[in-house]
Amino acid sequence: MRRLLPGPAPDPGRVDLHDVYAWPETTCLRVNFVSSLDGAAALDGRTAGLGTPADKAVFSHLRATCDVVVVGAGTAIAEHYRPATVPVAVVSANLSPSPAERLFSPAPGTATPLVLTCASAPAGRRAALAGCADVVDCGDEAVDLRLVVTELERRGLRRLLCEGGPRLFSALLAAELVDELCLTLSPLLSGGPAPRITDGAVLQPPAGASLLSVLEDDSTLLVRYGVS
Ligand SMILES: NC(=O)c1ccc[n+]([C@@H]2O[C@H](COP(=O)([O-])OP(=O)(O)OC[C@H]3O[C@@H](n4cnc5c(N)ncnc54)[C@H](OP(=O)(O)O)[C@@H]3O)[C@@H](O)[C@H]2O)c1
Repeated sequence: MRRLLPGPAPDPGRVDLHDVYAWPETTCLRVNFVSSLDGAAALDGRTAGLGTPADKAVFSHLRATCDVVVVGAGTAIAEHYRPATVPVAVVSANLSPSPAERLFSPAPGTATPLVLTCASAPAGRRAALAGCADVVDCGDEAVDLRLVVTELERRGLRRLLCEGGPRLFSALLAAELVDELCLTLSPLLSGGPAPRITDGAVLQPPAGASLLSVLEDDSTLLVRYGVS
């Protein structure tokens, strides 16, 4: 892996991910995605075919250094999320994830998952999930993403790593809550129709971004942008 930016690196061939992906002292919402060169965020509904060894290394590093993984219900289900050492917080208005999902089966050394929902969520599903997750209301009729951040902060969680998916990312952008976007560009062109990393209403005006770092490994580019 080589560090291309910021440069010049003392030794561009030795990349310290702790240095490149240092978290700020203040609360930070960092979003991590992988995409093909032609913009596909999933192949056959999964990200598995997009990953490269460098993407997996950064994905693992970001997970190992965050306080909480925030993810939309669609991604938690499609990607068969499991419990992790840090809490996995699933954002869901309708409580679509089933308590039978592997995420909700406790495993040694893993944290209890959070489900971030709203007061109007279906009562039966809430009761079913309450037995295997911390179900937290963040709003009445809809999930207020600002309250999501507040509730996480209240629990001492401030290194917030959002792993998608596209609908949650768009909603976070619309709410102006995203601090950083980490994006892996995999050296693949998949063609055909495919989801992008955003899926939601047009942002008016578009969010701006400034380049913070660029790594390269075997034609995979790992870019990090500050989002404004
Ligand atoms: N390329 C990548 O890096 C990457 C990363 C992640 C996911 N993906 C792919 O993206 C696809 C899933 O896309 P998606 O857009 O459905 O994923 P998503 O954003 O994770 O899930 C959408 C669901 O999450 C909940 N949700 C999202 N935003 C919400 C909000 N503002 N308020 C309340 N609930 C909210 C809702 O669940 P309820 O219906 O339960 O209310 C909604 O139906 C999969 O194919 C996955 O593989 C790709």
